Amino acid sequence: MPSVRGVVGRLRPPVGRTRAGLNGGDGGWLGFRVVDQIDQSQGVAAGASEASVNTVQSNIDQPGPVRLFSRSAGDGFPVVLLHAFPLSSAMWLGQREGLAGTCRVITPDLRGFGGSALGVDEPSLDAMAADVLALLDAAGIERAIVGGLSMGGYVTMAFCRRYPDRVAGVVLADTRAGADDEAVRQGRERLAQAVLADGAVPLVRDLLPKLVGSTTKERRALVVGRVRGLMQAAPPGAVAWAARAMAGRSDSVETLRALRVPVLVIVGEEDEITPVGEAHAMVDAVADGRLALIEKAGHLSAVEQPELFNQAVEGFVKQVAG
Ligand code: MLT
Repeated sequence: MPSVRGVVGRLRPPVGRTRAGLNGGDGGWLGFRVVDQIDQSQGVAAGASEASVNTVQSNIDQPGPVRLFSRSAGDGFPVVLLHAFPLSSAMWLGQREGLAGTCRVITPDLRGFGGSALGVDEPSLDAMAADVLALLDAAGIERAIVGGLSMGGYVTMAFCRRYPDRVAGVVLADTRAGADDEAVRQGRERLAQAVLADGAVPLVRDLLPKLVGSTTKERRALVVGRVRGLMQAAPPGAVAWAARAMAGRSDSVETLRALRVPVLVIVGEEDEITPVGEAHAMVDAVADGRLALIEKAGHLSAVEQPELFNQAVEGFVKQVAG
């Protein structure tokens, strides 16, 4: 049985957890201005259900926050989780299921992915961070724990830089604080052009083998297949936009140093893209940090070991929310 190691308090495998809070969660369009609402229920995997509220934003083609699709589950302290590249809020199914009894889990599709519009802005993580702010405003949430995995972590750091007063705590999973060097930037541009030309083929060929850890590749074909499906569903325009946004991001070390809220850093022990050393560097940069190291997980620790990931987040939420 894999375990979580780190300075996150006592973490135990979830035993007999109920799905309380899943029914009655909301999922739907959340945008700058709500002009329509439709109530409907949608089945999701594993037999759970989410009530869905669709709200449509009127200024979808204008620069600024775009129509954003978000799925939520549970009640209580709000916890926003931002997905990795090039996936969608679907990657957080295990967190909506596993954390709904602890907190209100809010998982938006970042612009262009899943059900969210791409909009007309130039590629930038700041635009994505502004979308998250619009989502919080639309939901009437003053402060939340904001977190993300990999690209979601980059957006989280941009959010912390721009809107520090809206952050009660931070979760940084399988991500890094540093900016890209020139070689990585060029690689992202090559990927953007390849995906615009050939769709998901280069993503699946070049990125999928690095996204999941060696244990998952050896033993968990269903998890690999699920991630492949999420990658194949990513619209090429969104993939290229996000790749260019990541290439243009600034260094976030000073942002982390300036944080005055608790920070949880999570990393899969087998993460090849943002290895354990990056996680230690982020913990070292913040004033109030703790690290959860997840065994037998690679870069997509939340997908590969959802129960262990959830244990780390659950302990953190209890600490922050009191
Ligand atoms: C991700 O998982 O979001 C990406 O691997 C991040 C990156 O390419 O830097």
